Amino acid sequence: MKMKNLLFFACLLLPLGIYAQQEEQRVDDLLSKMTLEEKIGQMNQLSYDRSGDLDAGIRSGQIGSLLNIVDPAEVNRLQAIAVKESRLGIPLIIGRDVIHGFKTIFPIPIGQAAAFNPGIVEEGAAIAAAEARSMGVHWTFAPMLDISRDPRWGRLAEGLGEDPYLASVLGSAMVRGFQGKNLSDNTSIAACIKHFVAYGAAEGGRDYNSTNIPPYLMRNVYLPPFKAAVEAGAATLMTSFNDNDGIPASGNTFLLRNVLRDEWKFDGFVVSDWASITEMIAHGFCADPKEAAMKATNAGVDMEMVSRSYIRNLPALIKEGKVSVQTVDEAVRNILRIKFRLGLFDHPYVDVAKPSVLYAEAHLKAAQKAAEESVVLLKNTGVLPLNNTVKTIALIGPMADAPHDQLGTWVFDGEKARTITPLAALQQQYGQQVKINYEKGVAYSRDNNTSGIAAAVKVAQSADVVVAVVGEEAILSGEAHSLAAWELKGAQKQLIAELKKTGKPLVIIVIAGRPLAIQHELDAADAMLYSFHPGTMGGPALAGILFGKVAPSGKLPMTFPKEMGQIPMYYNHNNTGRPFRGNETMIDDIPLEAAQTSLGNSSYYLDAGAAPLFPFGFGLSYSTFDYTNLRLDKTTLKQGETLTATVTLKNTGSYEATEVAQLYIRDLVGSIARPVKELKGFKRVALKAGESAEVSFTLHTDDLAFYGIDMKEVAEPGAFKLWIGGDSNTQLETGFTLE
Ligand code: NOJ
Repeated sequence: MKMKNLLFFACLLLPLGIYAQQEEQRVDDLLSKMTLEEKIGQMNQLSYDRSGDLDAGIRSGQIGSLLNIVDPAEVNRLQAIAVKESRLGIPLIIGRDVIHGFKTIFPIPIGQAAAFNPGIVEEGAAIAAAEARSMGVHWTFAPMLDISRDPRWGRLAEGLGEDPYLASVLGSAMVRGFQGKNLSDNTSIAACIKHFVAYGAAEGGRDYNSTNIPPYLMRNVYLPPFKAAVEAGAATLMTSFNDNDGIPASGNTFLLRNVLRDEWKFDGFVVSDWASITEMIAHGFCADPKEAAMKATNAGVDMEMVSRSYIRNLPALIKEGKVSVQTVDEAVRNILRIKFRLGLFDHPYVDVAKPSVLYAEAHLKAAQKAAEESVVLLKNTGVLPLNNTVKTIALIGPMADAPHDQLGTWVFDGEKARTITPLAALQQQYGQQVKINYEKGVAYSRDNNTSGIAAAVKVAQSADVVVAVVGEEAILSGEAHSLAAWELKGAQKQLIAELKKTGKPLVIIVIAGRPLAIQHELDAADAMLYSFHPGTMGGPALAGILFGKVAPSGKLPMTFPKEMGQIPMYYNHNNTGRPFRGNETMIDDIPLEAAQTSLGNSSYYLDAGAAPLFPFGFGLSYSTFDYTNLRLDKTTLKQGETLTATVTLKNTGSYEATEVAQLYIRDLVGSIARPVKELKGFKRVALKAGESAEVSFTLHTDDLAFYGIDMKEVAEPGAFKLWIGGDSNTQLETGFTLE
């Protein structure tokens, strides 16, 4: 770098350095005035209740944070106790699960992931932050960055899918959205990346279950989204409930100290999950709350959520020399640093006189755009978009007008009264031009009562097209809501089968919190749209897509297996020594009393093969796209260099539409076996009918790096394959060599 440039950057960084020093100075000054009890108080977070018992605890400095309070007047009252009546006037930090919106609800995170659009994800988080902070919330417990490869695990609804790259890009975008340019702005809130770590790999998809992720997999798949979010400036991090290989996350010194602090230089604070510290007793890792408090503090959990083992036991543990004052000081420093960054010492109160930003017009518009982009078209024989020959629509199904359920899991503050359902949107927007006859058929997704099906069939018989909106209620996914069977619940399958018999064109919209088994419905449907719970504006989004105002552009952020028995199934698996070729013996090929043989067979199922129903990244459009002329600017590159891959993308159909172009690589030989494909880039490209664009991606050798046999992150020399296409099954391939 030239001297002039160096000086320029030094001048830029200098004020930042001075600012950081001043911040640390303020933290240290305050810390030096605190008693041990006050320090431990900062490490104690409680859940708000209206009993009034909290007042005394706040006054005496025994509570550093509250969660689950969203009444601005009450926040101000409690904050005034902290600021004016406690000895040192340290403000409270107020936390809340603001997961996919505060009042204006965006699609559930797995739905946002389907949009493959960091811009809309960042905007959604910024909107959630502005709404939440206006109500006195300083801190959200999001984004959830747990990679999951198991549709049984209900909590995948809250995550960003199966791919570490996609989750890294989108998770960082969420962090930036929540935190804004400056944490102290009155539209920003602190993010909390969770759950550290591997929580999404729960055995059997049963929530809270043990995980067994070995070190290379941990480094290459489960940790990268967290590392990226730390680099994006995440202010806080939450430990998870699971034990990995026997060590509960809230007691994992290696991950919390060596990796998070020493390697990644994280300078925010770590909070436990709800009672996850005392749950280490049930894990069989600690004998009692005192030992749990000791192990968690020493491991590096700075703040305890609700279980009070710190406040009750740390004084004695320090006296006994089992926890050092330095360890406590470090934890409190981390917490105070974020309180300073949030500007809480200077502006502790909510401005209740400020005009409301809740459900602002711009927020609703953005939520609709996010919902539109998150919908994935899985099948279309040509029935969609609906055209003007359609005069009567039979709108059927339990999810067509389910304002509560369409919001999805983890919604505490959004109101169903503000939700616009597909029924409402179709009536409002298209009610003049088409007749919409609505029948539920079954009352709610789990309802086994078939008595409403006849009426639904009757309505279907007299319609030009049937739109069946089925799926899952919100409560069937999310925390503690795992499922062992993933077919449509209740009498929904029967409803679809009866609608099919009418012979009318059948459009199925699935609204769900996870990938569901949809093979039968897919066979019955002339078109299928998959919408993960789409939030407040899901109705207008879906109505617009049905009528072709917007062409669907979402892509699956998770592989959709054919059968539950194929789980775990994910695109970026290793090749194995006997990869599936496609000409293997299937169950019906086997003669009676066949002698045992393994020859010619590979890693697959006799009854289900090895392919999924839909691969990761899959999604159709009303238009069609052609990828041609894949080329690289060089075929060999040296460490530190970049490579540009370009493809010609043409909209070959007759609709203006957006395609998500995806770049995958494969590192052919590694010091450890590498996945058959890895996503390394994606772009949303909007094209008019007939229009072409040159789409380029730049890869740096750092993008090829992984943790190899020496447990160091390096790009290993050798041959690579590279693909660009519309999903992870794309065949347009080239290659290059890293020297
Ligand atoms: C438990 C959940 O696991 C966590 O994600 C959430 O933030 C806390 N409860 C607080 O509600």
